[in-house]
Amino acid sequence: MQGKTLVIGASGQIGIELVTALRKKHGTHQVVASDIRATEVPELIDGPFEVLNVLNVDELDRIVHKHQITEVYLLAALLSATSEKNPERAWDLNMNGLFHVLDLAKNKKIQKVFWPSSIAVFGPSTPKQNTPQYTVMEPNSVYGISKLAGERWCEYYHQKYGVDVRSLRYPGLIGYKSDPGGGTTDYAVDIFHQAIDKGSYECFLSAETMLPMMMMEDAIRATMSIMEAPAEQIKIRSSYNLAGCSFTPADLTKLIQQEIPEFSISYKPDFRQQIADSWPGSIDDSAARKDWNWQAEYDTTRLASTMLRELRLKKKAESLVTR
Ligand code: SER
Repeated sequence: MQGKTLVIGASGQIGIELVTALRKKHGTHQVVASDIRATEVPELIDGPFEVLNVLNVDELDRIVHKHQITEVYLLAALLSATSEKNPERAWDLNMNGLFHVLDLAKNKKIQKVFWPSSIAVFGPSTPKQNTPQYTVMEPNSVYGISKLAGERWCEYYHQKYGVDVRSLRYPGLIGYKSDPGGGTTDYAVDIFHQAIDKGSYECFLSAETMLPMMMMEDAIRATMSIMEAPAEQIKIRSSYNLAGCSFTPADLTKLIQQEIPEFSISYKPDFRQQIADSWPGSIDDSAARKDWNWQAEYDTTRLASTMLRELRLKKKAESLVTR
């Protein structure tokens, strides 16, 4: 029987959806959700939940032991925009959190680790279109520097200590069930909320900023499938390129206007523009396709129509509850 799974940073944008999907697949009590703060999110507290700061190694050890955890998904991190504002905290959390979990695996207290990397590992000198798996990597954001260092440590722990760590370079993740926080790609979630709520949006990136993005459903499927693949199929132990679709704020605007013709957008780029400009516009994920049969399902049109449809339903249901 498969052991139990611990999701660290479960209250975040990915965590809520991943916990839901893992519990559906493996059983509610097999998946322990944890976060630095207590939560009221129903999807998290319908099963085991622990308050855990991943920087507290004794607490981490205690929880792993208490629940007999065999697999850890480490999602606790500061994203790109927040990291830029607090570089020391970002480095501390993003790196030491990873070391704590990798060391659990090195010491055979757990068997398998998932750790997310990001398109932020690339930098201004990286080829922008169809960015290859192996290429120039000179990130110039605090977040990107921590993710690239993390990738090198993952590969190191795998080679030196045989740690079974698996990782994906997520693009910007777009979902309707949980909110993002602190990312440069977050505009592409917010724009849908504001289109429905207000009919207008002020975008912090410029109209033609092309970035790689992915529907959350695809991201969760990719995460579960890389973790389920036989170890010998995982040939890359730093992190896999992962592609969904690519679009600009202007592209999204056109798609939204097909459903909400009066929707208007204005542009007021801030410090996040520089981060976005350093990242690729599109990603070559042929290694993931070849090694563990990855294939994204959502293109930009489907992503936009799904976001509008699902957010409208969600907002309608919420307004009925609060009435
Ligand atoms: N979506 C993330 C961010 O914008 C990138 O990994 O920070």
